[in-house]
Amino acid sequence: MFMTRILIRNCHQKAAKEIERASNILVMAGAGLSTPSGIPDFRTPGSGVYDNLKKFNLPYPEAIFDIRYFRSKPEPFYEWAKEFFPGVNYQPNDAHWFIKRLHDHQKLLRLFTQNIDGLERITDLPDEKLVFAHGSFSTASCTFCGSNADIDTVKASILKDEVPYCTQCSGLVKPDIVFFGENLPIRFFTLQDADPELADLLICIGTSLEVYPFANLADLVPDNVVRVLINRDTVGSFGRRKSDIILNGDIIDIVHKLEKEINW
Ligand code: OAD
Repeated sequence: MFMTRILIRNCHQKAAKEIERASNILVMAGAGLSTPSGIPDFRTPGSGVYDNLKKFNLPYPEAIFDIRYFRSKPEPFYEWAKEFFPGVNYQPNDAHWFIKRLHDHQKLLRLFTQNIDGLERITDLPDEKLVFAHGSFSTASCTFCGSNADIDTVKASILKDEVPYCTQCSGLVKPDIVFFGENLPIRFFTLQDADPELADLLICIGTSLEVYPFANLADLVPDNVVRVLINRDTVGSFGRRKSDIILNGDIIDIVHKLEKEINW
């Protein structure tokens, strides 16, 4: 018991030292970053989105975010979006502010996020520091002709339980979040090629690393770059490199410990 506690403490100290040393930190984030804000993640058994879609009678849980399924039956996605439209119900938590603090201390190279809740923006991180790998709710477009649609009008329709249609071609309109079967934004691929070489530390926080190509980013940093995982479970290839630092536990507890060590 005593040994375990020493090891865990040493691990946080080690991670804190790495953060103090680094000046180009590449952060990759997933839905676990926002669970402390009250937004469920996708794959945690019981509370995750995919375990709570029974009322929609989907052929498989991910269908709710699958472009082919959406084209035939868009209502489940709109009903989900009504609850989770950014700015409606949720605020950033201490882990979002921890990432903002990395930026304030000139340590953040980039935050690649899979999250579409937009909470990173509310912390005032500049757009240049952000990569919304799975898109965002800040714009919308037609899934048929690609025309841009006014996001406020789309939001108003969704909140009124109305399906938003394109004013040009009457196709289905949705916020520009990336569905399964759609391409990630070009910005993701451009910076995925450039940033790993510039990074001097990688922090991966709140993701199962189950979805590609995002998950690949963790393996693109060179072997001499230390990787820190902040997550309940050990995921992806973490643990395979000797210098990996794995901080298992609750994200908020972990960032509080790190901030205490760093004296922020
Ligand atoms: P997942 O739900 O797959 O993974 C979230 C991870 O965060 C899990 O490993 C959880 O154990 C962990 N976690 C959650 N809350 C935590 C907490 N408070 N403290 C510590 N760990 C916690 O979510 P993502 O990896 O983001 O894509 O999922 C990736 C993509 O799959 C999403 O962007 C979405 C989804 O399908 C699309 O819809 C295209």
